Amino acid sequence: MVDLNENKQRDQWGSKLGFIMAAAGSAVGLGNLWKFPYLAGSNGGGAFVFVYLVLILLVGFTMMLAEIVIGRNTQLSSVGAYKKLNAKWGWLGGLGVLAGFLILSFYSVVGGWTISYIVKAITGAFNTADLDLLGGMFGGLIAGTLEPLVYHGIFMIITLLIVVGGVSGGIEKSTKIMMPALFVMMIMVMIRSLTLPGAMEGVKFFLVPDFSKLTPSVLLAALGQVFFSLSLGMGCMITYGSYLGKDEDIVQSSMIIPALDTCIALLAGFTILPAVFAFGFDPSAGPGLLFVTLPAVFSKMPLGTLFAVVFFVLVLFAALTSSISLLEVTVSYMVDEFKWDRKKATYIMSGIIFIVGVAASLSMGPWSHIELIGGRNIFDTLGFIAENILLPLGGMLMCIFIGWVWGLENAIKEASNEGKLAFKLAPVWGFLVKYIAPLAVLIVFLQSSGILKI
Ligand code: PFF
Repeated sequence: MVDLNENKQRDQWGSKLGFIMAAAGSAVGLGNLWKFPYLAGSNGGGAFVFVYLVLILLVGFTMMLAEIVIGRNTQLSSVGAYKKLNAKWGWLGGLGVLAGFLILSFYSVVGGWTISYIVKAITGAFNTADLDLLGGMFGGLIAGTLEPLVYHGIFMIITLLIVVGGVSGGIEKSTKIMMPALFVMMIMVMIRSLTLPGAMEGVKFFLVPDFSKLTPSVLLAALGQVFFSLSLGMGCMITYGSYLGKDEDIVQSSMIIPALDTCIALLAGFTILPAVFAFGFDPSAGPGLLFVTLPAVFSKMPLGTLFAVVFFVLVLFAALTSSISLLEVTVSYMVDEFKWDRKKATYIMSGIIFIVGVAASLSMGPWSHIELIGGRNIFDTLGFIAENILLPLGGMLMCIFIGWVWGLENAIKEASNEGKLAFKLAPVWGFLVKYIAPLAVLIVFLQSSGILKI
């Protein structure tokens, strides 16, 4: 019998811009809009931003190119890619698939909250600056039973519908609309925020580094953020890179993607912190900054309801362009390794991820008594395993794989399109891949898993 899948052409990005939008879309997400401003807010503002930027240059660019090189070279998603390069290393791709699976299960729950906040913004439900009230509303949502699950389901269905459309027809098409829209909306909200009286205090806090605040833990927080924000360490960029044609300039793309991601993180900082300062709120409010402090800020703004709706739609778009990349990692694994068709893989994997997400969501309410690793509930345990263990481990091992197993010459040959493109930074990149990046990640890994306490 003829295996139809064998004859089917593997889907590819329709254009270079399409790939860059999709990859930047994966990188830009809740990590940029929610986590980055809050981390900057509680880690010394400018000092954190400075370290973050240095690390993007050193580690971000290095690992981005490394992942894309593996994907483009093998034209396979992560498990198959590693296997093709060295039969003994397929498990490393498997770690990444597992990480993507786990991350999406709780990412989708948070994505659901953003849909709920769009509805709340439209109906004017949080038209108050009372932080207790807003905190209660947020707490009520996440600890609920049916409401967060319905929104989690809606978020997962939207993600599924995009991914089932395929690489060029679904992912590329949707990100080409959502990413520019996100950029425009972001600029709008940022201008509103920057023109508030007292906003400059926030800008100063965000930009002027106070190096006395530069402790080892700030450095480590920044390194961890670079990692999560750029979607590195779980084969996501290997998978996206596998849909690239052999003549694309991947060195250039690997610079553009971290640059765009950093731009959005900085825009988020310039949006959230000035507004928080203008209204005298606490910049180190942590996870509540987006869902509790920001609605209070909107309620005090002229045209606040409109800006609140626009802002949460923007957060939803950012979350979706990331969630589709997370689902794609799992789906492409089933398609490439088990020859499932895309539709079957997307439906089945989304269903399983949804169910794990149900447990994650309930663990903040009715199931909060269930304690797993270190007293964490299910939601936090999933985050801990994926972000603090699997991602750093995956990233570090990938660098070791390239630098010491597959070989730098092979990687550089792929990056430079077999020598057709000038890759002047090749020796620097090689040194970073082989030594600096894995060491840096090792430090983050040890610290975040609690083995090393600085
Ligand atoms: N980079 C995304 C964010 O900043 O929200 C999260 C993420 C997406 C992590 C995809 C990992 C990944 F593979």
